[in-house]
Amino acid sequence: MANLSAALNIEDLRLLAKKRLTKGLFEFCDRGSEDDVALRHNRDALERIKLRSRVLNDTSGRHTRSTLFGKPVDMPIAIGPTGPAGFVWYRGETALAQAAAKAGIPFTVASTSNTPMEKIVENGGGGRLWYHLYVWRDMEASLKAVARAEAAGFEALVLTVDSTIPYNREFDVRNGTTMPVRLTPRNIADLATHPRWLFGTVGRYVMADGHLPRYHNIDMPEGLSSTGIRDFLFKNDSLDWEFLKRIRDMWPRTLIVKGILHADDAAKCAEHGVDGVIISNHGGIASDAALAPIDVLPSVVREVGDKMTVIVDSGFRRGSDILKGLALGADAVIIGRATLYGVSAAGEPGATRALEILQTELRRTMGVLALTDLADITRDHVVMPHELPL
Ligand SMILES: Cc1cc2nc3c(=O)[nH]c(=O)nc-3n(C[C@H](O)[C@H](O)[C@H](O)COP(=O)(O)O)c2cc1C
Repeated sequence: MANLSAALNIEDLRLLAKKRLTKGLFEFCDRGSEDDVALRHNRDALERIKLRSRVLNDTSGRHTRSTLFGKPVDMPIAIGPTGPAGFVWYRGETALAQAAAKAGIPFTVASTSNTPMEKIVENGGGGRLWYHLYVWRDMEASLKAVARAEAAGFEALVLTVDSTIPYNREFDVRNGTTMPVRLTPRNIADLATHPRWLFGTVGRYVMADGHLPRYHNIDMPEGLSSTGIRDFLFKNDSLDWEFLKRIRDMWPRTLIVKGILHADDAAKCAEHGVDGVIISNHGGIASDAALAPIDVLPSVVREVGDKMTVIVDSGFRRGSDILKGLALGADAVIIGRATLYGVSAAGEPGATRALEILQTELRRTMGVLALTDLADITRDHVVMPHELPL
């Protein structure tokens, strides 16, 4: 088992994940697309923003509690959907749900989870659960998942709209990485040299379920070949505002649209009765030329901040990054890779460690800003690159 107490930050967890996973699976989780420009830019954009320290305010009672969609959270973070969570660790989605429940934050189950969504509700630790929706070419198969998510009691539906066009991930082609995982001449040596992952994850699925990990939330015809599965999982590029209307009509609870990078689109979401938007470039995956969500955030907050919940993601690795998002008007931050590295390294304890690290950093940096309550953070706490003294 990985030595988690030696992991002092998210990068340490990333290195533990790198050791345990095959190269192909690690790069699938870690990299962006094309030349990884958007991936790097997400970090650069966050790092260019500075926090303005304040002093001499008693912060000994500081805490990270907040509310999200009217309900309490122990910190203003939610775990976002990450498709391979169940490939990196046996029942990885349940592990993430348990870690989120312990940390008092929501967890988003991905459409492509390898554990049925109902089982994650049953075994996930009783925390707040959101269901993420990808819309496949066969739209009805996706809509069936919405009905299941409602019956299973999910609090919110997260409709991802930035991924209708296939990502250009050349490294996946080179590494021979496919989802679901398949044995190919290109990845066989990679698999053979990572027995901890191969036996500890894939082997356990085979022992428990009698087959390789599958997608359990997708109503796919039986007996599809791997090419058939790949074709089935092509996303539907005909999605439009009419479709959003349809989803709004059928989903009675909180509806969140993920993958917004323009204030006008956020305004349209508000007009369609959406409860919250996630400003996101899919962690640098959707387009390598994408804007960094943190740079788009202020314009979205100006446009819809008083009408709906605004969440931001992509590139958040430190507590100070989260404070930058909040100071620019976000209600919360979504975490993708930070907890994915944690669960890849060590299952639920690894994901819990990632959340502990973020919360410790958040509390620490609140002290530096002389903040006791996150509700008191303001735009004055951040200095944007163009505002820096020369
Ligand atoms: C390996 C991987 C798989 C992902 N799978 C999904 C997914 O199935 N659906 C989705 O909406 N977003 C998905 N995302 C995007 C995350 O939900 C989130 O937007 C992103 O990871 C945030 O950036 P960060 O990883 O830098 O925190 C995925 C991200 C990664 C890294």
